[in-house]
Amino acid sequence: MTDKTKIAVLISGAGTNMAALVYASRIADAPYEVVLVASNDPAAPGLALAQAEGIATFALPHRGMTREAHDAAMEAAVLQAGADHIVLAGYMRILSDGFVERWAGRMLNIHPSLLPLYRGLDTHARAIAAGDSHGGTSVHLVTPELDAGEVLAQLRVPIVPGDTPDTLAERVKLAEHQLYPRAVADYVSRWRDPVRLLDRVRALALALPETDERESHGSPGFRVGGEKGGKFFAYFSDQHHGVAHIACLVRTGSMDELLALVEDQPEIYFKPAYYGASGWVGIILNRPGVDWDEVAEWLARSWRSVAPRRLTRLIDAADAF
Ligand code: GRF
Repeated sequence: MTDKTKIAVLISGAGTNMAALVYASRIADAPYEVVLVASNDPAAPGLALAQAEGIATFALPHRGMTREAHDAAMEAAVLQAGADHIVLAGYMRILSDGFVERWAGRMLNIHPSLLPLYRGLDTHARAIAAGDSHGGTSVHLVTPELDAGEVLAQLRVPIVPGDTPDTLAERVKLAEHQLYPRAVADYVSRWRDPVRLLDRVRALALALPETDERESHGSPGFRVGGEKGGKFFAYFSDQHHGVAHIACLVRTGSMDELLALVEDQPEIYFKPAYYGASGWVGIILNRPGVDWDEVAEWLARSWRSVAPRRLTRLIDAADAF
């Protein structure tokens, strides 16, 4: 998968986090690219850097505009640039609820405290005044409530004797420049993270009656029917035999069905090595927009095709009506 996630970075000031995001995106294999840097302040120093780096920029002062109108103009620029995630990096504007809700799950922020401590402003002064041993930084999803969305990543930064809010802020920024690019990269890659994908398949497979998990030829496999005489109805396959797919393998009804699926929807289905010969189909999971209800249906169908009769009798009876 070579397609990079396109992100727009919104800034109001120096833009050092934006710069960290840009340079990390230039390292080989980065999963995202910065397609726009936008600001509510045309004089934000970060804009000049973005321009010099050949990145599209957009600036619109908010003075004299309603919050909704200003947000709408920023959003239009983001969409125009083709971005599918928004990354706030020192963007000092509260966003309207509508804007935030439209980007739910696709908008991240970095905040200079160990959330849930010290939401809002003056975080470093508050941490020092409280006598905390550490300040720090948090990357979180943006929700309508300020600095309250799910925390994705944090780094702790010690407070040392003599620290002022400025000296602490400077050290926290060093940590931010490491954390933010990594957190954004992990977040936009989550749809192809094998650990997450296996977790989802496992949860769906083991939710079916009388199932257990057992490794088979190095892959996690899922069986029905108990310790003895159990039968496999699914495998999780992480790029086996040189294929680029992370997949869930399930049983189809016949070789004809398998071949038709692969021919009609090659972006979803493939014929796996070895298992394909006995009618198993691979459902590709490392692609955006997987329909997990469909995966669940396939698992249930595959389960049913090998589950002992005592388990399927009720379902068969219901089907007969
Ligand atoms: C960072 O400390 C960030 O946590 C906060 O604003 C500051 C932005 O700094 N939200 P910069 O513009 O990235 O240098």
